[in-house]
Amino acid sequence: MSHAAHGKALNLTLRVWRQKNAQDDGRFADYKVTGISPDMSFLEMLDILNEQLIQKGEEPVAFDHDCREGICGMCSLMINGQAHGPERLTTTCQLHMRKFNDGDTITIEPWRARAFPVICDLVVDRTAFDRIISAGGFVSVNTGQAQDANCLPVSKIDQESALDAAVCIGCGACVAACKNASAMLFVSAKISHLAQLPQGNPERASRVLSMVKQMDEEGFGNCSVTSECQAACPAGISLTHMARMNREYMKATLFSSEGLEAGGAAGGFG
Ligand code: FES
Repeated sequence: MSHAAHGKALNLTLRVWRQKNAQDDGRFADYKVTGISPDMSFLEMLDILNEQLIQKGEEPVAFDHDCREGICGMCSLMINGQAHGPERLTTTCQLHMRKFNDGDTITIEPWRARAFPVICDLVVDRTAFDRIISAGGFVSVNTGQAQDANCLPVSKIDQESALDAAVCIGCGACVAACKNASAMLFVSAKISHLAQLPQGNPERASRVLSMVKQMDEEGFGNCSVTSECQAACPAGISLTHMARMNREYMKATLFSSEGLEAGGAAGGFG
């Protein structure tokens, strides 16, 4: 990827997905933006576009954002066919316009997945992820006061691996990048995080069974291990968490009381 010359303002054509609501068919609209600083973030560039549209009396482009610091996972955009755009390990809000060249046409779309229906323009409904978390992505046992957590011995290797999973920001790039719209990387990060910590142990079996069941019910596709999810993830979540989720799921279906009540290894995921 070539970069814009340092300091040179960019003139760009934006092909933006416009869709009034969930019922609207949607279409691309082309807009020109000029004088864009290479030091601006991608969202600041969209702010400029929206100021122009408002001045002309047109509807601004709806897009999600919150922290603009790479933490919340709200700024979910497909940029030139890549989830979060061309820079690896970077969310849309942390992407800078120096990654583009003067005269570029940039295509901007929402996440495309049946389980993430478009609400308006670039905003999709990602509450399917919330329902998966509600199904079991938490610890409900009493773990004591904050200082008690420091008294629980956890091996350095487990700590590091659990934290590697905990950095998932739930943006949905893994789903958007996957040809099957699979949510396996997201769900595996949540399961792997808690499965490696003593606080997560008591609900370990019920958690993986419930979360996988909810994932299937939401309409996400199966995993065919093309690894696009790992390549697109701005938090660097590894496929190794999916391997751990598979092991957790097999153990839960074959050996836990919840799994045996549900009929052994019935259901599950691909
Ligand atoms: S706006 Fe929060 S991660 Fe981008």
